[in-house]
Amino acid sequence: MAFPITRLRRMRQSEVTRNMIRETRLTRDDLIMPLFVRPGKGIQNPINSMPGNYQLSVDLLVEKCKELYNKGVQSILLFGIPEHKDEHGLVACEHNGIVQQATRAIKKELPDLYIIADVCNCEYTTHGHCGTIINGDVDNDSTLITLGKQSVSLAEAGIDMIAPSDMMDGRIGFIRNELDKANFTNMPIMAYSAKYASAFYGPFRDAAESAPQFGNRATYQMDPANSNEALREVEQDIFEGADIVMVKPALSYLDVIRRVKDNFNMPIAAYNVSGEFSMVKAAAEKGWIDENRITLEILTSIKRAGSDLIISYHTQDVIDQL
Ligand code: PBG
Repeated sequence: MAFPITRLRRMRQSEVTRNMIRETRLTRDDLIMPLFVRPGKGIQNPINSMPGNYQLSVDLLVEKCKELYNKGVQSILLFGIPEHKDEHGLVACEHNGIVQQATRAIKKELPDLYIIADVCNCEYTTHGHCGTIINGDVDNDSTLITLGKQSVSLAEAGIDMIAPSDMMDGRIGFIRNELDKANFTNMPIMAYSAKYASAFYGPFRDAAESAPQFGNRATYQMDPANSNEALREVEQDIFEGADIVMVKPALSYLDVIRRVKDNFNMPIAAYNVSGEFSMVKAAAEKGWIDENRITLEILTSIKRAGSDLIISYHTQDVIDQL
């Protein structure tokens, strides 16, 4: 056997050639930082299972946003923890709801920071499910009504983009219609299209105080074993008017991201969720991994899989390296 003519190692010889042929580049534009806001003043409650993340009151949230914005973060995803909860999640639709207040306060100081609102009921219902319960399960169509109200209320507060994460059938079309009726025809919708019933959300449910009080989310979120079904979810959301489609979680679902990329000409987001983040932090705390390199590798591979946008709690740690 002759020695090789083709040598892939040739282009790996120098930093310059490696840079020349690099296929995927993570940029600041790709990253979205999730933040949690709660009522009160001067409050910064650490989220134990998510080191470096906090439940912040509006005043400190604004400070945090300034810090992030100055580092180069252009976009945040807001989650609210309300003072009171109710059976249907209607507190999320109030003019003075926690995310509405936070949005107005941030926009006053940082009009150019792009604010995306997670639209869901689970943080706002007493039972922690993503909608109205009828006969022991989340009722699809009555939940659409609260989701529509929540979306319009957030739009009125000045949010830049709506991100429904509830997984009810038909919610993108329903919300689109409600927004349009209220003259928010230009409000983009990022749909959590293929959202799996995942154990990787564990730390988030502490952060957002949104764990279901009975049962689980398997009747509305997807079975981790399915990927054809993810394409159907995505197709449906596109048909209903989604502007961006999302796959969530990210790391165990890179194949799904790739299938969505290959099948649809749509901007794709991936959510690098709480459990994925916390596993890295925990191993790093033990000194078992190089946190910085692992984080950049993870985010780059999510982008390589086909995602245009990445929602990640690592954003604040990596942004100044990009
Ligand atoms: C709300 C929502 C969840 C997450 C984002 N939006 C939790 C859930 O569905 O239980 C999870 C985010 C994360 O784990 O980082 N429905």
